Amino acid sequence: MAELRERDAKILMTFPVTASSHLLAEARARGAYAALDKALRTMTPQQVAKEVLASGLQGRGGAAFPTGRKWAVIQYDDGQPHYLCANADEGEPGTFKDRWILENSPHQLVESMLIAAYALQVRHAFVYMRGEFSAPFRRLQGALDEARAAGLVGENILGTGFGCDIMIYRGAGSYVCGEASALLSSIEGKRGYPRNRPPRLTVKGLYQQPTVVNNVETLSNIAWIVQHGAEAFKAVGTPKHPGTRLISISGHIARPGVYEIEVGYRWRQLIYDDCGGMQHGAALKCVIPGGISTKVLTGAEIETLNLDPAEVEPAGSSMGSGGMVAIAEGTCMVRLLQVMLRFYHHESCGQCTPCREGMGWLHRLIDRIVDGQGRLDDLDMMARISRLQDGNTICGMGDAAGYATLGILAKYRHEFEHWIREGRSMYEGNLECRRSS
Ligand SMILES: Cc1cc2nc3c(=O)[nH]c(=O)nc-3n(C[C@H](O)[C@H](O)[C@H](O)COP(=O)(O)O)c2cc1C
Ligand code: SF4
Repeated sequence: MAELRERDAKILMTFPVTASSHLLAEARARGAYAALDKALRTMTPQQVAKEVLASGLQGRGGAAFPTGRKWAVIQYDDGQPHYLCANADEGEPGTFKDRWILENSPHQLVESMLIAAYALQVRHAFVYMRGEFSAPFRRLQGALDEARAAGLVGENILGTGFGCDIMIYRGAGSYVCGEASALLSSIEGKRGYPRNRPPRLTVKGLYQQPTVVNNVETLSNIAWIVQHGAEAFKAVGTPKHPGTRLISISGHIARPGVYEIEVGYRWRQLIYDDCGGMQHGAALKCVIPGGISTKVLTGAEIETLNLDPAEVEPAGSSMGSGGMVAIAEGTCMVRLLQVMLRFYHHESCGQCTPCREGMGWLHRLIDRIVDGQGRLDDLDMMARISRLQDGNTICGMGDAAGYATLGILAKYRHEFEHWIREGRSMYEGNLECRRSS
């Protein structure tokens, strides 16, 4: 474990949120669009891309792929149209940090997308937004309208000759449409099915043209990187994982919300100092670190860990999408897994047999256990089905659901065994254990 850190820098949440912090006038007073001006007037597209590569920025959508390496696949002089898509689908349960940017600082995303579009020679950029996002849609559309009226979006931006339009495409509430290739199919007007790779999306993406898909938070870092430089960005966080992360924390936590932490921040400090510990002074049972698709870590496991992928991954999980769920002692993990498996089964798009059938089996097995008809060997069967999904599906949802199931079964098997033997939860009587009708 690395030495515990005391520093705490902010990149995205550097201002107090007011009723007007989403508006152009306030954003400009905070320095918005200065980085766009700098990029368009003093840097070549290649220089911008080089700066992003040098910054070491990694994707904040879940897989932590290096952003500069993704961008480097795009060829400047291939004569083809290129596309950029901001992924604002934010469907991973427990995750609501992109929403914070869209509602409170939409110009940060607009400016960053324009800089990215310049670097990637994109003329048409898209924001794919989940259908349920009403306020974020209104705020971002308002920001785009203001920016267009001010000559910051559209033709001849800031009089430099560079032009780029940004349009919002609203999804219809499918979890899988947050997967990058499914998202592009959805924009094309097709069913939101994930695509097999290769070819990579940076080679054949939207309308079969080279396309970059980046998460909203990932993109929102770009303006800061261009304004302050790659070295300044690398000075925040850890050398291997620079920058900050937006963590949306929910569950039985006293002060749920979105927190910006420097990578390497103490986990304990976030939960007990910043978030005020657990509700009603309960003990922390476990944490789902980065959306429900990441493996659960016990309260004891996170006690000495820092929020750094270099520590979270060796501990057997991942920081994923930054959607942290803190779970109090006394919560029934059987019911928790049941809710998760119902979700995955409902959301499976059905293209791959291991996911389509596996999710159904897992859901039926957990329902059978909760109904008091479970057998002890059901638990081994659930583990076997989960392992079968690993690496055998088109998109990451099959693997992720398997990891989540294996993680809970490995650490809380005794709760499942108790339910199977006694026909009821170990925590019967607790609110979380009430059976749904
Ligand atoms: C089932 C599934 C759902 C996903 N949902 C999202 C999402 O809502 N938002 C997001 O940014 N990435 C999501 N991803 C990850 C994207 O496929 C992609 O890796 C990401 O948008 C790339 O951006 P980044 O490199 O900036 O992280 C999802 C992946 C899978 C497999
Ligand atoms: S893994 Fe599941 S969600 Fe992903 S493509 Fe296959 S069936 Fe669809």
